[in-house]
Amino acid sequence: MDETQLNILFSNGILVDSSIKDVNIPDIEGFIKLLKENNVDFLDIDLFHKLYDGEASTDSSVEVIKNYEGEISAAKPANWVNYFNDRFNRLKTILMVKDRSGLLSLANIKNMPQSSDVKSIVMVSSVSISPVKKYTILDIEDNTGSYKAIITNSNQEILEDQVVIISGRKYNDAIFVKDIVFPDIQMKEKVKQEMDDAFILFLSDIHVGSKLFVEDAFEKFIKWINGEIPEYSNISKLVKFIVLNGDLIDGIGVYPDQEKELAITDLKGQYDKLYSFLDRIPKNIKIILSQGNHDATHIAEPQPKLDKVFAESLYKLKNAVFLSNPYQVNLIVGKSKINLLSYHGFSITYYANKIPKYTKMDAEDIENIMKIQLKSRHLAPTHGSTQLMPLTRDYLVIDETPDIYATGHIHKTLASIYKGTVLINSSCWQHQTSYQKKYGMVPDVAKIPVVNMRDKSFQILDFLGDKVQTYKKGLKEE
Ligand SMILES: [Fe+2]
Ligand SMILES: [Fe+2]
Repeated sequence: MDETQLNILFSNGILVDSSIKDVNIPDIEGFIKLLKENNVDFLDIDLFHKLYDGEASTDSSVEVIKNYEGEISAAKPANWVNYFNDRFNRLKTILMVKDRSGLLSLANIKNMPQSSDVKSIVMVSSVSISPVKKYTILDIEDNTGSYKAIITNSNQEILEDQVVIISGRKYNDAIFVKDIVFPDIQMKEKVKQEMDDAFILFLSDIHVGSKLFVEDAFEKFIKWINGEIPEYSNISKLVKFIVLNGDLIDGIGVYPDQEKELAITDLKGQYDKLYSFLDRIPKNIKIILSQGNHDATHIAEPQPKLDKVFAESLYKLKNAVFLSNPYQVNLIVGKSKINLLSYHGFSITYYANKIPKYTKMDAEDIENIMKIQLKSRHLAPTHGSTQLMPLTRDYLVIDETPDIYATGHIHKTLASIYKGTVLINSSCWQHQTSYQKKYGMVPDVAKIPVVNMRDKSFQILDFLGDKVQTYKKGLKEE
């Protein structure tokens, strides 16, 4: 610590022990903010390590509910059978909580007389439209066999591989569907937690290493989180968690001719540059890192936590938590907790391409696709909507209803609410790429959705202009 830094500490009313003189503090302003938050007026080496290394310096913690630890499985037919059985059985359990009366297996239904009222939990193996009457024809299956179901009411939208309760009347070796029940999430009551304001920030798709990375806006964010920018300091002072939801770097060879748009051409260099920013975030804030399709890992989901070989520098961050994609955690401050489900969002693009009314991929389309995922209780319900690894457990099943469901990947920003669960898509930190230009995709750049843990209220902050301000596009008022 040099003389200038010592003087800055003194002028802020902080006395230091001689044991502190040899330590180096790269971000003195951020450090002073941290000392003030912790009411420190005398600093020795033990307290320095406690605070600066982020050890026991806060009352916040991350409790892991679901995290893929990296087990692998070959894409063999037997593994796919196990994988789909696990998915079917877990979704069946969720559905049976909603309605378990009068359920029949498909084998039983086959033996029932014509015109019987029947009800069954099934997986939809194919969806087609009849050419004449435009009815929807479903091939359905369960553990006992397969059958057909026919939907005559075009309002009932159903997708391949969804698991649902179908009820209707048996006629001519098919079920004429009267009702479909989706597993869907449970209603989350809006409860004000007994706590002070505490904020979670959602960032994703930083794409460090790209020439199009908006470094000046990201620098502005780092200054803001260190209290150096006055706007919304009521938030910056009280941030407890930063969620970084994948595509942390631009990667290499992800799309054709990407190298022409790279400023840093090696993966380690890209993560090192990200580290140089994240290391300046006050250590009392927990940073949760997960990965997307641009990061240095396999693309099949679930994706394991960041690879230590490439992201070695990030592992030096004492306040970082490394998790898989997807993951589910409780974010805890004191006695209060928020259940967060985080998924990079790869399958969203599939549904935007597949369902004509969602091809614009604006905030509302993304919101509707996120609702399909929650309604299906699965992050990629249709096989082929993302690349999968056939593990014995399907990590993409949504076992618990989250308080917040956060995604990224689309480079659009969104904050909304569905049945009491806050929906977030966290924009990006990269200007429009040539690839996006080709497909007419205009990104929302440098926006940060913010959720207050106390009451789950949300807003979006914009770091792109001269000043930090709120951003209304993509924000659905509560
Ligand atoms: Fe991205
Ligand atoms: Fe992505």
